Amino acid sequence: MKRGNDFAVKYGPWALVAGGSDGLGREFSMELARLGLNLVIVARRKELLLETAKVVTAAHPVQVRTITADLGDTESHALIIRETDDIDVGLLVYNAATSPIGPFLDTPIEKHAAAISTNCVGPVSLVHHFGRKMSDRGKGGIILMSSMTAFQGTPLVATYGSTKSFNLSLAESVGYELSSCGVDVMACCAGATLTPNYINSKPADRRLPSSAEMAPGKVVNEALRRLGTTRVLIPGRMNRFYGFIMTRILTRKQSISLIAKNLYRLYGKNPER
Ligand SMILES: NC(=O)c1ccc[n+]([C@@H]2O[C@H](COP(=O)([O-])OP(=O)(O)OC[C@H]3O[C@@H](n4cnc5c(N)ncnc54)[C@H](OP(=O)(O)O)[C@@H]3O)[C@@H](O)[C@H]2O)c1
Repeated sequence: MKRGNDFAVKYGPWALVAGGSDGLGREFSMELARLGLNLVIVARRKELLLETAKVVTAAHPVQVRTITADLGDTESHALIIRETDDIDVGLLVYNAATSPIGPFLDTPIEKHAAAISTNCVGPVSLVHHFGRKMSDRGKGGIILMSSMTAFQGTPLVATYGSTKSFNLSLAESVGYELSSCGVDVMACCAGATLTPNYINSKPADRRLPSSAEMAPGKVVNEALRRLGTTRVLIPGRMNRFYGFIMTRILTRKQSISLIAKNLYRLYGKNPER
């Protein structure tokens, strides 16, 4: 990772972590504060948000602002823009995501729509605003949390997976456009990561960790270290190996079947078998 000072000069003085109070987002908040960046943390649950802000400021001498808001609600984007009007946000981490799990048709349309709002409309809105400001300043960074589900269709999380493909494409496209303005954009395509949300989403009898599952801190460290060196990151050697097999060795159809088999084993009956 760039040494604290260099990182803060390039990506400071403020970072905004959209979805920064829990799981990977909390790790981003902690690590960015350690690197000397002031923070704006956005999340819905006020108590957890305030607790995260307290832990961060107790550990590191930085300023922390909190915004309690639902990123799936477009009014929250205007609120965030207003609340950050007086500061220079040099790094945007869009980490929040809504991930309905289950057969596509059995999932209410409102849940699909909420995933699209939080995972697609939110990043477009905030990247559009902060990307312009960074471009005007001639420096900055944007990390969009994507997933290995971005690389092919993923049954049982069809809409979530599609939103992650959207973020991958958004990061690659905007990253190319902003590269000449000194702004680094990266999609972080994480594999399974042991966050509270991920652990709780697994059925109670399948919660033992498997070898490919990563600790949130490792994902965040790799993402911050690689920002500016790549536009698409798959954190973790094991995940990169799986990614290679899924995208270079197997056909798309074979990859989707393999993923489906694993997910149906975890969550329910496979209609193909
Ligand atoms: N964990 C994994 O295995 C894994 C794998 C691949 C990719 N990822 C990606 O990594 C990111 C983080 O995953 P995670 O497991 O750490 O997620 P998480 O625990 O569900 O959420 C992380 C943070 O986002 C906030 N958040 C969620 N929805 C929000 C909303 N609508 N508005 C405002 N804040 C919201 C949460 O706080 P509140 O709930 O209080 O709002 C929390 O602070 C996601 O983009 C996910 O797609 C995760």
